[in-house]
Amino acid sequence: MTTDLVIERFDPAAAGFARCHDLLVASQLADRPGEPPLPLAELAGRWTRPLPGMGTAARWLGFRGDALVEVHFLEAENSGIGLTHIVVHPAARRAGIGGAMLRAVLPALRERGRRVIEGWQVVAGTAGERWAAAMGFRPVRTIVRQALVTAETDRSRWDVPVGAGYRLLRWMGAAPDAVLDSYAALRGAIHDAPLGQSDYRWPEWTSARVRATEAEARAQGLEQRIVAAVHERTGEAAAFTEVCVHPRRPDWAYQRDTAVAAAHRGRGLGRCVKAHMARWLLGERPAIAWISTTTGAENAHMIRVNRESASRRCRR
Ligand SMILES: CC(C)(COP(=O)(O)OP(=O)(O)OC[C@H]1O[C@@H](n2cnc3c(N)ncnc32)[C@H](O)[C@@H]1OP(=O)(O)O)[C@@H](O)C(=O)NCCC(=O)NCCS
Repeated sequence: MTTDLVIERFDPAAAGFARCHDLLVASQLADRPGEPPLPLAELAGRWTRPLPGMGTAARWLGFRGDALVEVHFLEAENSGIGLTHIVVHPAARRAGIGGAMLRAVLPALRERGRRVIEGWQVVAGTAGERWAAAMGFRPVRTIVRQALVTAETDRSRWDVPVGAGYRLLRWMGAAPDAVLDSYAALRGAIHDAPLGQSDYRWPEWTSARVRATEAEARAQGLEQRIVAAVHERTGEAAAFTEVCVHPRRPDWAYQRDTAVAAAHRGRGLGRCVKAHMARWLLGERPAIAWISTTTGAENAHMIRVNRESASRRCRR
């Protein structure tokens, strides 16, 4: 059935971004209805310059009914993983195109030494889950998507004082030198967040890696905001949360890592830094309508903190 399917490397000059954007929006409407679609300009921006930590990317298009496969060749501790996302237009599904797209990228994955193919956008209960099972994939990790919809949120939830013995510190783009080392060590606390059976490994954070990631974010035009709680006695960063605003998406923000160092847990610092982040972000960027985040499904504490800050669960 797929004999007239032509699969080619994505060439923006020939195919343009608009066609891929139409495909992604149609697929999102089918599989993740209710979430704001990725604007065309943001798609083009991401494809021109990958987001921090995502490695280099390659894309192929299937011409017949529209299909796309995107592979991110992750780097450093994750260089064995080919992060692969296949999308077939809802009107063209169940004709063998998804399987053909997967087979088409296997040589490139092998060539780049990828032992494992992971897909991070398979939504439970949708065609993607059934297709993945039919192709021989097994579930390794379940994540929960949550969103804080600003119009629906009672902002008094963000009145969270910082606990005795701590003070709040916030910055955009570059950590102050005075907390750089303790902030890098604190970022490593994310290693306590469960990864299920995924082959993915959290980054090994060092001060140099923090600076490199900050530079990557700047190059991509991301506005990276950090709110940290500093332990007053030692002057060390004890908790932090990170939000990024993307340059071509002024009404949407992505809540990235949040972590509290082991010695400082159970004192409400996670909720406090998140609440202050929401206030700071929306105070300066009132146009933001939606703050999106993802968390491992077994990470009950983080999911509860998000719910208390008024994040609602998206379909997943
Ligand atoms: C997942 C997706 C790429 C599949 O594309 P497709 O072209 O429809 O897939 P195929 O035709 O190659 O399906 C191959 C097999 O998968 C299984 N399958 C696919 N969709 C299915 C569904 N909706 N229900 C049950 N089984 C399904 C079947 O066994 C099918 O073989 P069959 O049609 O002979 O029974 C498509 O549904 C999609 O774009 N979903 C949204 C994005 C996504 O979730 N991607 C996840 C992969 S990274």
